[in-house]
Amino acid sequence: MKVLVVGNGGREHALAWKLLQSDKIEGVVCVPGNGGTASMEGCENVKLAVDDFHGIKEVALNHEIAFVVIGPEVPLAIGLADYLKQQNIRVFGPTQTGAQLESSKSWAKGFMKDIGIPTAQWGVFTEDEKTAAFEFVDRYGAPIVVKADGLAAGKGVTVAATVEEAKAAIVAAFGGQFGMAGECVVVEEFLHGQEASVLAITDGETIRPLLPAQDHKAIGEGDTGPNTGGMGVYAPAPVVTDEMMARVETEVLQRAIAGLKERGIDYCGILYAGLMISPEGEVNVLEFNCRFGDPETQAILPLLETPLDELMLACMEKRLADFPPLRWKSGASACVVMASGGYPGSYENGKTIAGLDRATEAGAIVFHAGTELKAGELVTAGGRVLGVSAIADNFDNAFAKAYHAVDCIDFEGAYYRRDIGHRVRTM
Ligand code: AMP
Ligand code: GLY
Repeated sequence: MKVLVVGNGGREHALAWKLLQSDKIEGVVCVPGNGGTASMEGCENVKLAVDDFHGIKEVALNHEIAFVVIGPEVPLAIGLADYLKQQNIRVFGPTQTGAQLESSKSWAKGFMKDIGIPTAQWGVFTEDEKTAAFEFVDRYGAPIVVKADGLAAGKGVTVAATVEEAKAAIVAAFGGQFGMAGECVVVEEFLHGQEASVLAITDGETIRPLLPAQDHKAIGEGDTGPNTGGMGVYAPAPVVTDEMMARVETEVLQRAIAGLKERGIDYCGILYAGLMISPEGEVNVLEFNCRFGDPETQAILPLLETPLDELMLACMEKRLADFPPLRWKSGASACVVMASGGYPGSYENGKTIAGLDRATEAGAIVFHAGTELKAGELVTAGGRVLGVSAIADNFDNAFAKAYHAVDCIDFEGAYYRRDIGHRVRTM
């Protein structure tokens, strides 16, 4: 069978790579894909925008696709899964109402409160309620977090160090800095601790957690500077202990799925809980995402032994309860992101990428994100360019392998953090 993967990031390259390892998968079509999916055997790209619903449907029908996997949040939030399902095309990914978990922070906060999922104290304010928003900031004091209520490509959240900064972020959001996403603002208590990502696969009834991962959001070493989409990740993250994972499964993931079901939302796909774990081991949900994490997927999937297509089919056919336990390779997985110089601010595209063969020979799996093939040459085409992943018996060896591979790769202005995995490495 053939599968269609929607998206063009490192996550989608990893999904296509993992799907192609299954005996049952003859080919993957990526819409629009990137330079990595264009050059992977068994995979082809079709250049269409992810909001071209009609075009994606035509590709699915013309290629006799068995099912569609929707990678990014934007097409999910605008209802691509709903549209394809109406055309009798099978989809892995939630419908628009389910995707609200990610696309509306105020909806997600209300949902968490209603069903008793632990989360930071918050207030939600429209432009008319700016004075109340300021009062909320004054009452809680800094640090405090201001979130534009919608998808803002990861840029809608300000972790404000001062009350003034928080108020400026509120003004900026109402001033339209994040487009529609700023019509409403969530102001939230600042939580201390370590972040972790727990992704689970679900058919709307049953939840199967994947290995917990820890992303590094900040651009700078020592977790400094502005937040990015993620500069590197590892799995399984030991900060999420087995006991904590069991609690997250029952008190967060199962509760969320039951809550969605009660609201008539039939959720099929990935439910991703972004957690903050306090030094005392208290777990709060910072956010839900309705899709695979990027770059979490590039670290998690290399350890997964269960064929991904079988797992996804079990979800789409609501058979997850009867599916055998997921099988994982033992050991550790690391992923280091190489970005264009200037990211997450402005950067230049079109830089020639060299050394990928040597990186692969060094034992790494190089997932492409912002790359494209131009006249047969691989060039940069985005902020996050590559995710260099490696697995090994332990974190030291996995990171040594990944960083050795990173050292083999070269493009002008390449930037990466040297300290990914600092909490789990001894070297
Ligand atoms: P979100 O999109 O809601 O996950 O926010 C993006 C990032 O902002 C998170 O990954 C955290 O690093 C940070 N953040 C969000 N909410 C909080 C909070 N309540 N306390 C501390 N940091 C937060
Ligand atoms: N790595 C963070 C995210 O996928 O949202």
